[in-house]
Amino acid sequence: MEALRKVRDPELHKDLVSLNMVRNVAVKDSAVSLTVVLPIPSHPKRDELEKAVREELGKLPGVNEVKLSFQTEVPAGRRGPAEKAPVTGVKNIIAVASGKGGVGKTTVAVNLAVALASLGARVGLMDADVYGPNVPLMMGVNEMPRAKGERIEPLNNYGVRVMSMGFLNPGDRPLIWRGPMLHSVIQQFIRNVEWGELDYLVVDLPPGTGDVQLSLIQTVPITGAVVVTTPSDVSLEDARKAIEMFRQVKADVLGLVENMSYFICPHCGGRVDVFSHGGGERTARAYGVPFLGHIPLDPDIRVGGDTGVPIVSKGAESEQARAFYELARAVAARVSALNLAQPPEQLIRISE
Ligand SMILES: Nc1ncnc2c1ncn2[C@@H]1O[C@H](COP(=O)(O)OP(=O)(O)OP(=O)(O)O)[C@@H](O)[C@H]1O
Ligand SMILES: [Mg+2]
Repeated sequence: MEALRKVRDPELHKDLVSLNMVRNVAVKDSAVSLTVVLPIPSHPKRDELEKAVREELGKLPGVNEVKLSFQTEVPAGRRGPAEKAPVTGVKNIIAVASGKGGVGKTTVAVNLAVALASLGARVGLMDADVYGPNVPLMMGVNEMPRAKGERIEPLNNYGVRVMSMGFLNPGDRPLIWRGPMLHSVIQQFIRNVEWGELDYLVVDLPPGTGDVQLSLIQTVPITGAVVVTTPSDVSLEDARKAIEMFRQVKADVLGLVENMSYFICPHCGGRVDVFSHGGGERTARAYGVPFLGHIPLDPDIRVGGDTGVPIVSKGAESEQARAFYELARAVAARVSALNLAQPPEQLIRISE
């Protein structure tokens, strides 16, 4: 264990022992066997980690063989005040938010969820945009969910469990509801849906800082929020409000993602900064929140949304899906880093 304290996880930048990543250590004659628990799905630097573990253990006198196995286990978020009861089986709730409408929250939420699932995580996607639910269209699912006793079974596509108001109120009839009813539907979507065991429940929020956002943040322990913006000043101005809202209610901002960042012209290959450039990174720096990456403006991302075939379903190797997979990896790493860094006294307070 002392030797393993010298090995740092290259993604989480802490040693394996403090991160509680080492299990089942056994020494038999000159062979050491151990399991390393990886806290992020499809750990991108697993090979590097393996090499470092073998190297450090190999330096110990008398060790001739290292039997190393890996296992993935996403740590659960237990942050936030004790009055917010955790959702049974759900390890982490990730809200996707923005100040301004139409900047690509739903596109980001859908592609983030499908990317996390294809990296091997158990993922749910809850459409909290009760008035304008776009998740059914973008996920290519739309049927009436079945009841299971008192609970609702989510639908399933691309390995993601999905729930949306759009399933219950299909067609173009608008919902006209006031705050208290919104509150109750958000609660039911979180607590009365049979989500099962999830590493991540991604929640697609409506734009702004209104009733739905507050209802969600105040009643369930969200691990953190991904704030979506475009690089334009009007969008950034509203993104700052969203960051401030999460700060005020003491929810973590996992980071800022800049969508519709730039456009590569398919005819000349030139780059066009349609909505300006660099604003997302600047704002993230100014507010001390991580910058999670740029997503290009790409007509195929729009087509993927409109046809219910998210661009990330092309797979992690696809050049067009690359930005979303990088985002998914950055979000997973940040969630695990936050959860593993939580002070032990918080754990005790919650279990009381
Ligand atoms: N990176 C992108 N490239 C091309 N089109 C995009 C991109 N991101 C989003 N879009 C398109 O822009 C439109 C708005 O995106 P989306 O519905 O995801 O935004 P939103 O923030 O969820 O909107 P609302 O505030 O209404 O919920 C959609 O047609 C979507 O396909
Ligand atoms: Mg939306």
